[in-house]
Amino acid sequence: MAAKSASYRCSECGHAALTWTGQCSGCGAWNTLEQDSAPAARASRGGQRRPVGPKPVRLRDVKAERSARLSTSIAELDRVLGGGLVPGSLVLLGGAPGIGKSTLAGMALANIAAAGQEVLYVSGEESAAQVRRRAERLGEAALSVPMLAEPSLEAVLAALESERPAACVIDSVQSLAVPDAAPGSVGAIREATSALLEIAKRLDITLILIGHVTKEGSLAGPRALEHLVDCVLHFEGERERTFRTLRALKNRFGATSEVGVFEMKQGGLVEVVDPSARFVGEARPAPGSVVLCAMEGTRPLLVEVQALVAPTEVVPPRRTATGVDRNRLALVLAVLTRHAGVSLSAADVFVNVAGGVRVDEPGADLAIALAVASAHSGQALASDGKPLACFGEVGLTGEIRYVAHADRRVAEARKFGLDRVLGPPPGDEAIPGLSAVGSLKLALSGGRRGGALRAA
Ligand code: TYD
Ligand code: MG
Repeated sequence: MAAKSASYRCSECGHAALTWTGQCSGCGAWNTLEQDSAPAARASRGGQRRPVGPKPVRLRDVKAERSARLSTSIAELDRVLGGGLVPGSLVLLGGAPGIGKSTLAGMALANIAAAGQEVLYVSGEESAAQVRRRAERLGEAALSVPMLAEPSLEAVLAALESERPAACVIDSVQSLAVPDAAPGSVGAIREATSALLEIAKRLDITLILIGHVTKEGSLAGPRALEHLVDCVLHFEGERERTFRTLRALKNRFGATSEVGVFEMKQGGLVEVVDPSARFVGEARPAPGSVVLCAMEGTRPLLVEVQALVAPTEVVPPRRTATGVDRNRLALVLAVLTRHAGVSLSAADVFVNVAGGVRVDEPGADLAIALAVASAHSGQALASDGKPLACFGEVGLTGEIRYVAHADRRVAEARKFGLDRVLGPPPGDEAIPGLSAVGSLKLALSGGRRGGALRAA
């Protein structure tokens, strides 16, 4: 009678399968399917009698009062969250060790506490003294945050039950000790998160779970967690550099395109309100340098893209991308070789976004192409001593493709006094007659040509 239901589950991604297979069809991992212990209760459709079930409610009659968001008083963080923390929600804050997750979470809690709400900081990996030393750097408000140095999940749950804070930070979710599971294992992380989820929803506690990211860049205890939480934030940047970007990879209560920019300073993280000014201020009109008009969510952002092309004997030559996608670099190099006659087969190519930020959009292609071509030719891309600004996607046939928000990108460049902006005009699929090759020639010649160049 019972309908057949999924009886295997992948321990990596949670994908459900009817039969055991060596490779999970959800995430491609090997030997991760396990017999599903959770009884998948599913009512059969062909029963004799119709049992009395719960009564569905028309959507219009569903009560959906919007509970007020909890502000962290960190504007960049609130914006990425979609307007602050939603009470009773679970936020996963991921990032590499040392990037500043504990600092950001500690600052948010301090602000929430200062606004008169109950908070709790649970540290499973650092001692109370270590957390105190960090709080000392962050100031008086951070020192008044109640903390619990406790790795046991049971103890943490009991504390939440008795303290009932409005917001609680768990630092980190990997450090929680769960009975009968190896600490930090996928099983332990999932069990801890499920238990925390239950209590958060029941007691309306906002939970910020800190998670370490593995070298490969995925949140450790991988996607097993992502589907349980409401919001996944990723904090990134280069450790040695001071700039940090915070982006939402998933957000049930807001957009996932917003990016917050911070700088790590002596007294904690400082919001960078006008990142374009910071990143472009240092751009010099030297060979291999170009300013990219990028979009970070709804906000235009100017960043300097630099390239270095150096002859090498090494086979295959090195291609290093920092702050841009390796695959986009490979594509752009192929287009340069095939369509623009820029031969790079005997050269190492390094591309870097200055300031340690990451740009994840196809609109960066043209900047990569121009920076590499300029570095290769040794010719600077500048007019009147100012660096050239550009944006646009490079297609496989060497054309430059339309990207969103062209007008806002151009406006941002103008705001910082960059009058030469190379890019597709709004609304067009590609600049008529202007290919990647054309724009290279144009950029390198420093000349102006009607239509192709969006001059003021
Ligand atoms: P931390 O928040 O501990 O990183 P994570 O929790 O992601 O591992 O902080 C990381 C670094 O930031 C650490 O090397 C010290 C530095 N830092 C500052 O520069 N200024 C500060 O005010 C604080 C608190 C930390
Ligand atoms: Mg930490």
